[in-house]
Amino acid sequence: MSSNSFFVIASIRILSGLFSTLKGVAINAGVIIWDTLLALYNMVAPKRPANGVTPEGYPGANGLWPAYTPAQKDDSRCSCPALNAMANHGILPHSGRAIKFKDLSTAIRTTYNFAPTFCYFVPNYIAGVLDRDYLTDSFDLSDIDVHNGIEHDASLTRHDSIFAKDQGTPAVKLIEELLASGTGPNGNLTTADLSRFSGKRRVEAKAVNHQYSLSFLHKMFSSSNSSTMLTIFGGDIKDLRPFLLEERIPDGWQSRITKPMGLTIAEFNSTVLRVELGIKEELPSSFIGDASGKKS
Ligand code: HEM
Repeated sequence: MSSNSFFVIASIRILSGLFSTLKGVAINAGVIIWDTLLALYNMVAPKRPANGVTPEGYPGANGLWPAYTPAQKDDSRCSCPALNAMANHGILPHSGRAIKFKDLSTAIRTTYNFAPTFCYFVPNYIAGVLDRDYLTDSFDLSDIDVHNGIEHDASLTRHDSIFAKDQGTPAVKLIEELLASGTGPNGNLTTADLSRFSGKRRVEAKAVNHQYSLSFLHKMFSSSNSSTMLTIFGGDIKDLRPFLLEERIPDGWQSRITKPMGLTIAEFNSTVLRVELGIKEELPSSFIGDASGKKS
């Protein structure tokens, strides 16, 4: 290689690396400002009615969800129950294929009432993990199962990917154990329950998975995923049972988030932090016995 072409290639790589870092910083700063404004607006604006969270004209308005059809043989499904449920109801293409990242943003906004910031940030993040363009590209649901992208070890509803190559199928035994671990009213899940169950999963997974990994970032993803059960679902096991086991949205269900601009990242993170900081994985003896509140 001539010294000229080496210089050109090196310059292109350094400049494109610099540009992509600056772009990332600018996007994150923009999302934080936007999210703060939405959180402030949520504090003063009237709430949506509990039975009218999904806007008129969208699937699920007035609790009327499109028909549920479980995944068929060639359909693509993934490790996320929320995205699978949308595909099972045809809110995303039932095949789970060729979904535009932009369309995913709109669908999770109207279905679950996350704020526009979250609905942009997470699909844009996974587009980046997959080296695709948020504005123009598409994905199949199973694409998001890339290990240690968002998908990680010690999940609550899936066995680790080293044991379960197909992350699109719920791990029934784990989910039943999770649903039985609630100590709130009617056996509903509380923040402490999610912390305790997550800790148990981390200790167990580390003991049996010789490729176990869970970085700080993936611990935060783990607690974010589980915190959706407390926020969007209010910890209600009556709704979480069909959602997690059948990946079905119950008839009449509406997101528990009635804030007009939806659940912002800032508001969501306060639950995420409480779950994550309550996990005592460094004290494995806390989890001897089962994951129920009674024995820890
Ligand atoms: C915005 C697009 C979203 C993407 C790309 C995404 C991606 C993922 C991925 C990759 C996982 C697997 C994580 C693991 O290994 O445990 C996951 C799990 C999960 N997600 Fe999502 N998700 C999205 C939106 C949502 C929404 C809107 C909700 C709730 C309404 C949700 C609820 C969950 C739950 C409950 C889990 C299971 C957690 C566990 O098994 O520990 N997700 N998601």
